[in-house]
Amino acid sequence: MCGIVGYVGPRQSQAILLAGLARLEYRGYDSAGIAVIDADGDLGMRKRAGKLGILRDDLTSAPLADGTTGIGHTRWATHGGPTDDNAHPHLADDDKLAVIHNGIIENFSELKEELLAEGYAFRSQTDTEVAAVLLGREYRATGGDLVVAFRNVVSRLEGAFTLLAMHEEQPGLVVGARRNSPLVIGLGEGENFLGSDVAAFVEHTRNALAIGQDQIVAITPEGVSVTDFAGNPVEVEPFEVTWDASAADKGGWSSFMAKEISEEPEAVANTLRGRIRDGEVVIPELDGLDDLFAGISRIIVIACGTAAYAGQVGKYAIEQWTRIPVDVELAHEFRYRDPVIGPDTLVVSISQSGETMDTLMAVKYAREHGARTLSICNTQGATIPRESDAIVYTHAGPEVAVASTKAFVAQVTALYLMALHVGRVRGTVSAADAAAHVAELEAIPAKISQILEREQPRIEQFAHWMADTRSVLFLGRHVGYPIALEGALKLKELAYIHAEGFAAGELKHGPIALIEPGQPVFVIVPSPSKSGEMHKKVVSSIEEIRARGARVIAVAEEGDAAVLPKADEVLRIPLAGPFFEPLLAVVPLHIFAMGLATAKGLDVDQPRNLAKSVTVE
Ligand code: F6R
Repeated sequence: MCGIVGYVGPRQSQAILLAGLARLEYRGYDSAGIAVIDADGDLGMRKRAGKLGILRDDLTSAPLADGTTGIGHTRWATHGGPTDDNAHPHLADDDKLAVIHNGIIENFSELKEELLAEGYAFRSQTDTEVAAVLLGREYRATGGDLVVAFRNVVSRLEGAFTLLAMHEEQPGLVVGARRNSPLVIGLGEGENFLGSDVAAFVEHTRNALAIGQDQIVAITPEGVSVTDFAGNPVEVEPFEVTWDASAADKGGWSSFMAKEISEEPEAVANTLRGRIRDGEVVIPELDGLDDLFAGISRIIVIACGTAAYAGQVGKYAIEQWTRIPVDVELAHEFRYRDPVIGPDTLVVSISQSGETMDTLMAVKYAREHGARTLSICNTQGATIPRESDAIVYTHAGPEVAVASTKAFVAQVTALYLMALHVGRVRGTVSAADAAAHVAELEAIPAKISQILEREQPRIEQFAHWMADTRSVLFLGRHVGYPIALEGALKLKELAYIHAEGFAAGELKHGPIALIEPGQPVFVIVPSPSKSGEMHKKVVSSIEEIRARGARVIAVAEEGDAAVLPKADEVLRIPLAGPFFEPLLAVVPLHIFAMGLATAKGLDVDQPRNLAKSVTVE
């Protein structure tokens, strides 16, 4: 939700800003803009509605004077539509000051009234311009001290924000602040960077500093200083980015999504790496934290979207292996219902970005109400893990396509590792059972690769034939149910068609009325050998919908003889134990959604209206 980049150093900044924005564009693509202080000390700015490419073309045809201090922004619109005027940066103080912003300033109306009453004028409908104008006024009031003025302004702002500012009278200085919205520092040699996440600068440096809540940073080519909002110096945590810039590039694939689906085997393998020893799960991050799991009597998993579906898959295994009751709740619903939580509750948050505001607020709420918190996250230095008592990182690598794919399989893997760890700590899983489950997990990457090699071209072809489809239903039972939900979500967001997932058993309680001749229905079929009873039930559901003319597309185990004659199409997956099947069954659905969107000529990496990291509530 808005990508932010800042640079100070000896190099010309425009190319650095544009490359950083290209890596952050997944955060929002309603508009883009940059501001640069040129060699004469003049501030130049260019911003355009639409994707970054439009700004880039504009700058190519009418170049902006370059300079070594600059800020850049890519926007997901909140206040004010996606127009040129509402794009960032916003200027103030006679266009000498530029400000960019991610988040929502909740008290902007009052501040705007105050400024209007003093005769200030506005060129946009945004909350950001209010902060810019306020900063311009404060800059003059402090006699031209950008850092002090910035501190005074952020103390008056309510809501969530990352703000960056620079003033042409102070070249070589970019100031930034964060509250409930991400900002990280990149440390270079004689140059420094700011970014919404490390992707903004990983091409230049892998040395980073994570800024805490309510902190202000000032970067110059020579150094970095961080204070709290009152101006007191604070220590910040250094970390090294574990992936390099090539991991965030397309690397010859037609889209980031195609690349990321191809990385699903690696996402699982890397999440397992270093966490299994002699058939036992060993999670180094949880060393010495057995207490966290000792006195708990319930687990609540909080997350949004695809991450919540990963949580729903995890619930079955966690309950089975730990015998602790698990509820899975959408993070944005959690704190508004006054949930009954306390020290006996472990709240497990799942977030690829680690910045989703709904999830962050739910984690904070849980902590404030005495619960213990564990974060499953894919992004180092992100806010949610920093707000949690414990972290288990997924190691899916950077996920750039807006719709989540490889992070999902990594999240389920991490949940299973956590469940086995807790089961062993509490004595509810025997060493032999743990070793068997671990062996299943270790076999998953090769099985996903098998699906990609054998089935992907056929699924893509099939998706192509279905390009005119207007509605698709998905059915699943047990762990197949959240997979049905995930299949439907992916199709909605990538291909913009109506898609819904149902628990197969729920069919006859209503949704079966939707079935008419030709209606495509994907059915996630459990293994006949490993889940015999459930398999029979799902086959009965297939019979019921076929009898009403549905076109059945089964995602079924290779050699499932009961399903073959009943389905119009079978997408085959290798054999796996009952809890492990979702890690395979989801892959054909990801390929199908991507294939159908591609067949419709849609942008699979940046679907309309969406942004990857939803940092507003
Ligand atoms: C769907 C998708 C979203 C995210 C959700 C949570 O494809 O990507 O539903 O899963 O917005 O995001 P994170 O995991 O970053 O908290």
